[in-house]
Amino acid sequence: MMSLKDAAQKVRENAHAPYSNFKVGAAIRAASGKVYLGVNVENVAYPEGTCAEAGAIAAMVAAGETALAEVCVIADSPTPVTPCGGCRQKLAEFGAGDVRVSMCNLDGTELVMTLAELLPGAFAKSHMGGV
Ligand code: THU
Repeated sequence: MMSLKDAAQKVRENAHAPYSNFKVGAAIRAASGKVYLGVNVENVAYPEGTCAEAGAIAAMVAAGETALAEVCVIADSPTPVTPCGGCRQKLAEFGAGDVRVSMCNLDGTELVMTLAELLPGAFAKSHMGGV
């Protein structure tokens, strides 16, 4: 079976990043064990672009899954690419604090952190009290 990192690296090639030239691939394993993939999809109207993590999360939810087990993100960056702030919140919507997030670059450098480490003090359902 292909590793999460290999899957992220392979799908990264399909990223649509003609404006930044910074291709990102994301692979997430859901609770079922199935892997969902995403790439960044940029747009000539720059703010309309979406991150690789957002694409992978959308694929997982579209497939009927809402529990995240593991995440891998990869880009051709000097140091391992870390998810942007918005994507940290998107990941936290579906993943517990102990979910492992592997951040990789093409040189083989890998940084592993948990979701809780990436987004301490995350805004959560509990903040909304009875809602
Ligand atoms: N990007 C991602 O897709 N994921 C990340 O974790 C970091 C940034 C994308 C957004 C944009 O298309 C490009 O990388 C440069 O910011």
